[in-house]
Amino acid sequence: MKYLVTGAAGFIGSNFVYHMLEKHKGDLIVGIDNLSYAGNIKNLGEAEKNSNFIFRKADITDEKGMAAIFEEFGFDYVINFAAQTHVDRSIDDPGIFVRTNVIGTQILLDLARKHNIKRFHQIGTDEVYGDLPLEATDSFFVETLPLKTSSPYSASKAASDLLALSYNRTFGLSVTVSRCSNNYGPFQFPEKFIPLMLINAMNDKHLPVYGDGMNVRDWLYVEDHCEAVDLILHNGRDGEIYNIGGHNEMHNIDIVKLILKELGKPESLISYVKDRKGHDLRYAIDPTKIHNELGWLPKTKFADGIKSTIRWYVDNKEWWEEIVSGEFREYYKKMYGDL
Ligand code: NAD
Ligand code: TYD
Repeated sequence: MKYLVTGAAGFIGSNFVYHMLEKHKGDLIVGIDNLSYAGNIKNLGEAEKNSNFIFRKADITDEKGMAAIFEEFGFDYVINFAAQTHVDRSIDDPGIFVRTNVIGTQILLDLARKHNIKRFHQIGTDEVYGDLPLEATDSFFVETLPLKTSSPYSASKAASDLLALSYNRTFGLSVTVSRCSNNYGPFQFPEKFIPLMLINAMNDKHLPVYGDGMNVRDWLYVEDHCEAVDLILHNGRDGEIYNIGGHNEMHNIDIVKLILKELGKPESLISYVKDRKGHDLRYAIDPTKIHNELGWLPKTKFADGIKSTIRWYVDNKEWWEEIVSGEFREYYKKMYGDL
């Protein structure tokens, strides 16, 4: 089998490449990425030693370039991770989110259709459901909820999910969509909450907590997400959406305190800063469908996953130091001032 993994040099994409090389030995995994600010070829360092992996620098919005890659390989499966992914950046500059997430997905879908592939899997996000009230702790995201997006990021992701599903209904392309909760683990870009807090704590810098820190996210270890996507890709039903999450809701501030404790740093490093515009209050996935239909359950407990993630960032200083000393400094200053 031949798989195309887009966004392969990003956080989840690179973890998925390693998952596939391990679980589908003998199959060919082709990873593409335009190596935007969030894509890092070093994330694929070990994969590039494997003869079943090929990397190509390519942009999903480049129709000709992508067409040539489809011609060359004749893929059986496409898994689309490539996206602009950070909510705060989408508030600053929505245009690139629409171009990448919507137009890029449409280009991939047209090529998938032309080449008659076995299945196209679209990586979606739970953020398309909007948010849940903080106090209604018995309410969860189910697949049948109407979409109610808050940020340009989530709106562009909702559009790409719907486009993918429309190619199933209208053209009969085999499509599945998954909507996962917040991931954490190795190779996550330092703009995101957990790596940002970890790196700042290690550097004795202030930890910028938006608002009062009481917003809730439902955290899933990245390898559990990869397993779920692999299952849906091969065993999920055509034209279906599957939510992925493991009932692990946490207030942001509790994660910050846990990180500080693990690293032996004082809580005086916490700094409450201006809230994000339109900040979603609470995300919480109901994973009943994927559990009942495909038997998926997360394997990593948060207490273990967060410890190994902290260890990874402690052990891989050179990986993140290179990032935070580059153009990231300008982004950081724009977002957080002199904090
Ligand atoms: P990421 O930003 O680390 O990775 C995205 C990758 O896509 C990067 O390597 C980037 O260079 C690449 N990319 C961007 N534009 C591209 C283009 N035009 N052509 C080719 N490649 C391009 O993000 P991530 O966290 O790994 O997210 C991957 C996918 O998972 C996204 O679709 C995201 O919406 C989804 N998702 C993420 C989470 C999470 O918690 N991180 C949760 C649910 C869903
Ligand atoms: P993030 O990693 O951006 O994921 P998302 O907003 O897509 O869920 O943020 C996770 C949570 O952490 C979210 O409630 C916003 C909050 N947050 C902060 O408090 N401070 C920060 O500097 C960042 C980046 C996020």
